[in-house]
Amino acid sequence: MALDRIEAYLATRHDDFEEQLKALIRIPSVSAQPDHDPDTRRAALFVRDDLAAMGLKADLIETKRHPLVYAEWLGAPDKPTLLIYGHYDVQPPEPLEPWLSPPFEPTVRNGNLYARGATDDKGQMFTHLKALEAWLKTSGKLPINVKILIEGEEEVGGAGLTDYVAAHHKFLACDYAVISDTSQFAPGQPAITYGLKGLAYFEVLVQGADRDLHSGTYGGAVANPLNALATILAGLKGPDGKITIAGFYDQVKPLEDWERAEFARLPFSEAEFQADLKVPTLFGEAGYTTLERKWARPTCDINGIFGGYSGPGPKTVLPCKGGAKLSFRLVPDQDPKTIDRLFRAHVARVSPPGVTYEVITHHGAPAVLVNIDTAGIRAAVRAIEAGFGIKPVFMREGGSIPVVGLIKEHLGVDTLLLGWGQIDDNLHGPNEKFSLADFHRGIKANVHLLAELAKAAG
Ligand code: BES
Ligand code: MN
Ligand code: MN
Repeated sequence: MALDRIEAYLATRHDDFEEQLKALIRIPSVSAQPDHDPDTRRAALFVRDDLAAMGLKADLIETKRHPLVYAEWLGAPDKPTLLIYGHYDVQPPEPLEPWLSPPFEPTVRNGNLYARGATDDKGQMFTHLKALEAWLKTSGKLPINVKILIEGEEEVGGAGLTDYVAAHHKFLACDYAVISDTSQFAPGQPAITYGLKGLAYFEVLVQGADRDLHSGTYGGAVANPLNALATILAGLKGPDGKITIAGFYDQVKPLEDWERAEFARLPFSEAEFQADLKVPTLFGEAGYTTLERKWARPTCDINGIFGGYSGPGPKTVLPCKGGAKLSFRLVPDQDPKTIDRLFRAHVARVSPPGVTYEVITHHGAPAVLVNIDTAGIRAAVRAIEAGFGIKPVFMREGGSIPVVGLIKEHLGVDTLLLGWGQIDDNLHGPNEKFSLADFHRGIKANVHLLAELAKAAG
């Protein structure tokens, strides 16, 4: 039958698939860095050409920055349609010093492929492409209709995609959507993710005098913008780990009893988690376990603080300006716009006098929670079992994938989040990796997903 032939095809192409993935990874498609714009485009062309080589009509769709890649196969009119999403852009590799091998020279150590983009998201995205290739090259067709949309701006806010999905919701209409851009629960334990956090990202700029001052001759007579900034930042969380912004928790959907019970049943050791990170103690919102904090409670983190003197030796300066970047990870049903209003009101209320403040809002995304009692999820469970030899558990994630909210809002579809990564893949950090065994299992699971969705009712 078709699946046997496809699995035989996967075996013959095993090494080629790895080489192709390495070739894609060698393209430094860092969407945030304009110097890399030509590389980012080359990655888009690579994806387009790969889709074209398996016989699909594939095109670039231009946006203001990095193009989308789109392809489709609609040869099964009585079958459902699956939308596959992935992203070909990657985070900046800096800092370079901690990398054991250069970020854009994919290197295999211990069965893992090390490189920027290995797991996020080139390696995972490629499992979909190779699954489609396997079907098309062995049977000349797919068991269901497929639309493929690969983005190049995911790591920088996805403005082009946001506009495109809103304007083309009829064109993108589908019955199911799938993304492989998350993690498994643990090595040997695949998972389906049913919740992602949202994001509200801010920059706070503080301005004092019109120039830097001597901290002896002026200190005490004018407010110091960095002291003022520190006051605001220090007050964002109480000693119990709770965020102090008035109204911040009002829209938070409490964890359900069944979820707390399921989380507690997962094989997770807080002690091992702590030991791995080499922190003196774990810290988070009082009254919640680590998994609950990571997956289902909103958080606030300062991402960077700048201003004043931080070079070698002391400098007695009263700096004239400073700032910080900070972000809130949101949970259902928090609305990024409401959080924006509450945060601004909070800053206005707690900011010390004597300096001026500016709050800048960067891109945001709402959190998502998908229904797990669906035909699509049941098909995905069977596909993962076929690919990995074990049933997936259900988990939530602390990361955000903004397109999931767009797919729900504009196409009315819950996305299947079938991630093949591991929690310690170092995505966005140095020495990002992806298990090659999981790469091949992911391809197999995606091959089966198409067959399972063809069988699934509605
Ligand atoms: N693939 C990640 C999302 C992710 C992170 C899933 C961790 C599972 C675990 C995605 O590429 C990403 O980095 N998202 C950003 C949000 C975006 C708006 C920049 C994130 O979560 O920081
Ligand atoms: Mn990603
Ligand atoms: Mn990412």
